[in-house]
Amino acid sequence: MPRIASLECSRCHHHVLADTPQTLCPLCAGPLYVRYDMEFLKRTAHRDEPASRAAASSASLGMWRYASVLPDVQPVTLGEGWTPMLQSKRYPGLLIKEEGANPTGTFKARGLSMAVTMAKHYGLKHLAVPSAGNAAGALAAYASAAGLCAHLYMPKDVPFANYLEGVVYGADVHLVDGLISDCGRLVAAEIASQKTANTPAEEIWFDISTLKEPFRVEGKKTMGYELVEQLGWTYPDAVFYPTGGGVGLIGMWKAFDEMEQLGWVSGKRPKMYALQASGCSPIARAFDSGAAASEFFQNAETFASGLRVPKPYGDSIVLDIIRQSGGRALAVSDETILAWILDYARHEGIFLSPEGAAATAAYDQLLASGDLKPNDRVVLFNTGSGLKYTDMTAEAMHLRRPGMLPTSLPVGGIITPQ
Ligand SMILES: Cc1ncc(COP(=O)(O)O)c(C=O)c1O
Ligand SMILES: [Zn+2]
Repeated sequence: MPRIASLECSRCHHHVLADTPQTLCPLCAGPLYVRYDMEFLKRTAHRDEPASRAAASSASLGMWRYASVLPDVQPVTLGEGWTPMLQSKRYPGLLIKEEGANPTGTFKARGLSMAVTMAKHYGLKHLAVPSAGNAAGALAAYASAAGLCAHLYMPKDVPFANYLEGVVYGADVHLVDGLISDCGRLVAAEIASQKTANTPAEEIWFDISTLKEPFRVEGKKTMGYELVEQLGWTYPDAVFYPTGGGVGLIGMWKAFDEMEQLGWVSGKRPKMYALQASGCSPIARAFDSGAAASEFFQNAETFASGLRVPKPYGDSIVLDIIRQSGGRALAVSDETILAWILDYARHEGIFLSPEGAAATAAYDQLLASGDLKPNDRVVLFNTGSGLKYTDMTAEAMHLRRPGMLPTSLPVGGIITPQ
């Protein structure tokens, strides 16, 4: 396992040391990337090592099979990663990366496993996250596994599962009458007031918002390593990724970069497709207008709750990756998302998350328009299990079983941002 050489700013390329917990670039507030000594890795890290490491271990290594390209720390793991790659029953070129198989039922487990691992390594005690829902559930689980305190801020209308996992794992749960952007402001304000109130250092919360610390990207990069290894160390033609904050896209692109430097893969990188819901599509709008960054998406509303991110912090990085790769950003309606959930459940046996269904709907649209060919090799991420959204999906289908489905979250304690 390599030592971290430094953390590099994605915007101005300033380097900072990773000896103490870091958030954003101190010079320009850009997200920081973990960097290793690549010359050392070229000599020591071989691509057949993840498989032999996994074969030699009696416990599931999951994404930690890639320890040779991850920080040298003791993992806080619940078995995340190394998820199934499913061949579609109907489309010869389509492979579905089933991230619903992760602990807490979504790909968020990868980033939070890594971020909590590092937080524990640094001796942090209190971790706070603004979340569209699934990151909060994942933080609650990993913080519990690590013996740390999790402070969750999420919209009051998240899927019930997200609220319940916070409660069950023993986290400090805050429901907010607003979106993830409001949650982010509340977390930042709470931490600022703790600092001005001279709170003892170990009690000050550490903010693990998307891209505002370096390690969630580092965990999500394992999706890039994994898909290339599962394809026999080759690239697919395209990657379809339901995009909210865009951390997965950024992480996979970083993985491609590293793997090419290490000689683990070569050839043309996949076209990266960012899929959104029409009710909240800041990236698709910016892509269409040719803008370098997104605009705040007013009145965001979609039952694909993980995509309700009105202004992603890493928007310019995401747009740059999509354009460099020759991919696209597209949005589909909630009606379409529901139709594709039912389609995959009934024809493929897969209960997609609404986010994953947005990607499958876009896939069909691009096949129909001829932009994609049936034999193009596409890896499509079902980022979460449909089972985390039973209340939302039932509501979208106008299904009700009185007394069995929660109709609203418990009242009281909901924060209305000023
Ligand atoms: C199931 C699901 N898919 C996709 C996303 C978007 O993820 P990202 O922030 O990496 O774009 C989320 C975010 O909450 C999610 O929960
Ligand atoms: Zn910078």
